[in-house]
Amino acid sequence: MTTTGNGDDCVAFNIEDGIAWVRFNRPDKRNSMSPKLNRRMDAVLDALEFHDDVGLLVLSGEGSAWSAGMDLKEYFRETEAGGLGAVRQAQREAYGWWRRLRWFQKPTIACVNGWCFGGGYGPLYACDLAIAAEEAMFGLSEINWGILPGGGATKVVSDLIPMRDAMYHALTGEPVDGRKAAEWRLVNEAVPRDRLEARVREIAAVLLAKNPIALKATKDAIRRVREMTYDNAEDYLVRAQEAANFHDAQGRHEGLRQFIDEKSYKPGLAAYDRARSI
Ligand code: ACO
Repeated sequence: MTTTGNGDDCVAFNIEDGIAWVRFNRPDKRNSMSPKLNRRMDAVLDALEFHDDVGLLVLSGEGSAWSAGMDLKEYFRETEAGGLGAVRQAQREAYGWWRRLRWFQKPTIACVNGWCFGGGYGPLYACDLAIAAEEAMFGLSEINWGILPGGGATKVVSDLIPMRDAMYHALTGEPVDGRKAAEWRLVNEAVPRDRLEARVREIAAVLLAKNPIALKATKDAIRRVREMTYDNAEDYLVRAQEAANFHDAQGRHEGLRQFIDEKSYKPGLAAYDRARSI
């Protein structure tokens, strides 16, 4: 295991069996996102994205929270005191690492261990998959302190949750637990807290067995085609596959060979053996 980061770091991470475990690490502030944390997270993503030992990234939180959203003191009050330029800078830093995570080279899983509020919906949505503890709590608490759900949070619930539920969630500020979040499709599934990491490892193992270039092309395609017409999507997907072929000329030929010539696996049921790629 490679371990990096230290106890004082507001972002902790370690690499284990191909998985980069990245954790919000301000448990005493319920992992709320301060400007410092946002800058640090950007640097950590930078260090991990093309790291040879990393095939997948998991975003989790230390302590009882995943992330209690933006740090109301450091991100809002103190930044606003610095004027419009400071506000815009803080927004760029936060939105910047969420955007980066949305288009991260490796697959990403949000491992939602606890509280997830407001601005936390940005990185939640940025992760390709999201698995929550049944005990985790999700809330658009903005309305409770007098603002609208900005920073993409409104867009996140509008994209993921049925309209009536999104409206109720945003207007009432009532939190929901992991089970309800899964029912709404805000997350893929919810499992008991003591099963959370094990379930994330199971899913990670499935993804780590796949062709990594195909994974990146696929995750980008799922996000991109949502806003395209059918014809535009058809065209984009042809070009995306051809671009993927440039970075991985042999992978799909080997996948075909093991099925058609060798008959050693069935693509309908599992992935080809990448270890035997020629
Ligand atoms: N911003 C700044 N500080 C925070 C935040 C936050 N979002 N969330 C928690 N903290 C701090 C508290 O001020 C407290 O600090 P202190 O020990 O210096 O007094 C510490 O974290 C612990 O917080 P508690 O409230 O004591 O923790 P508890 O476990 O009882 O409750 C809960 C957790 C429910 C998450 C509560 O802290 C809370 O409601 N936090 C705010 C959630 C929120 O509304 N986030 C903003 C969403 S809007 C947006 O992101 C744009």
